[in-house]
Amino acid sequence: MSEQVYVGADHAGFQLKQKLVDELRRLGYEPVDVGPKALDPADDFSDYGKPVADAVSRGVAQRGVLTCGTGLGMAYVANRFPRVRAAVAWSPEIAELARKHNDANVLVLPSRFVSEEEGMEILHRWLDTGFEGGRHARRVAKIDHDGP
Ligand code: RB5
Repeated sequence: MSEQVYVGADHAGFQLKQKLVDELRRLGYEPVDVGPKALDPADDFSDYGKPVADAVSRGVAQRGVLTCGTGLGMAYVANRFPRVRAAVAWSPEIAELARKHNDANVLVLPSRFVSEEEGMEILHRWLDTGFEGGRHARRVAKIDHDGP
């Protein structure tokens, strides 16, 4: 069974989100598109960030992808959910480090600051990179719990 990846955007990320959904499908994932289904210039990022973060937080999905203009609003929303580690990535290198060192389970793309092509490269790198664990596992664990 293919892995479900939840995907959401606001109006600023709408176009890029359509490409991300297509690309995830092309790569053999099962994208779950929480919307928007059509461009609505008045929509709000929280309405689409929350269902994606909730799915990852509850373990319904292992990973999610969000996009808004700067990526910041989506990251604020997603990181309020327990067990969600949402990383804004504007380059493949950031995406790689967000996986290797931070075990990011939600990728947030700043749609107004990356081209479509860059967005796809960032997505690929994030999908294909594993968490390094070791000292990073201790650091990630300390986000929620102090001490060993
Ligand atoms: C929408 O115009 C814009 O503010 C939003 O996409 C995002 O950048 C917020 O963080």
